[in-house]
Amino acid sequence: MAEEIKNVPRHVAIILDGNGRWAKQRNLPRTMGHKAGADNVETISDVCIAMGIRYLTVYAFSTENWKRSEDEVSYLMGLMRWYLKNYLDTALRKGIRMRVIGDRSGLDPEMVEEIRRDEELTAHLTNLELTFAINYGGRDEIVRAVKDLAEDIRKGEILPEDITEEQISRRLDTRELPDPDLMIRTSGEERLSNFLLWQLAYSEFCFTDKYWPDFSEEDLRAAVDSYSRRERRFGGRKQA
Ligand code: FPP
Repeated sequence: MAEEIKNVPRHVAIILDGNGRWAKQRNLPRTMGHKAGADNVETISDVCIAMGIRYLTVYAFSTENWKRSEDEVSYLMGLMRWYLKNYLDTALRKGIRMRVIGDRSGLDPEMVEEIRRDEELTAHLTNLELTFAINYGGRDEIVRAVKDLAEDIRKGEILPEDITEEQISRRLDTRELPDPDLMIRTSGEERLSNFLLWQLAYSEFCFTDKYWPDFSEEDLRAAVDSYSRRERRFGGRKQA
C-alpha cells in the first residue's frame, strides 16, 4: 500500500552516475560498481512503490557509452541481459511493468527478444512502470521520430503545416509515458548527457553528490521532499 505523501512526483527519471568512482573508492573493479548499481535499481524501485511514484525511468546505457572499453561494454551488456532475464519474476511478483526505450536495432537480437518478452508479460501491471533506457540518446530518439514523421509526409498522410508537438511526442520511444516530473542525477555531475531531451522540458532537476550505488531510500525521499516544495509554473505565471 502506497503511503500518503503530498505532491509526490508521478514520474521520476534518474541518471545512474558514479558506479565507476564508487568501485574505485573501494579498490574494486569498475564492473563491481555496475553490479552494485544494478542492484540499487531494484532497491529504489521498491521505495518508489512504497512512496506511490508511478513511473521510474533509469538511464542504463547511452548511445555514447559504446565508446567505453570493449571489456566494460561487454560487461554492461551482459549485466543488462542478465537483469532483463532474471528481474522478470520479481517484476511479476511486485506488479512492475517493464519497458525499454532506445534504439533496439543496435542491440543483440537475443537481448531484443528478452525485452519483448518482459514488456509483453508485464504489460498489465501498474504498481510501478519501470523503464530502462538502453542504447538510448535523446537526439537519436528525436531523429528517429522525425524520420518516421517525414515518411508519413512523403506518403501524403500528413501535411507539413499540420505538424504539432503531439505528432512528435507520439513517435518518441516514450509515447506511452507522461513526461518526468523530477529528474535526478547522482555523483555530482550537473548535465543531461543526452537523456530525455524532449521530455524534460519542464521537469524539476535534483543533483546529488552521492554515487549511484550509495543513493538510498533517504536520498530519494530528500529529493522528493525538495520537489514537493517547489512551485511548477510550466512557463506560466504564479497563481494568485
Ligand atoms: C555511470 O557510471 C553508469 C553507467 C554508464 C551504467 C549504468 C548501468 C548500471 C547501473 C547497470 C545496469 C543497469 C541496470 C538497470 C541493469 P560511470 O561508469 O560513468 O561511473 P563513473 O563516472 O564514476 O566512472
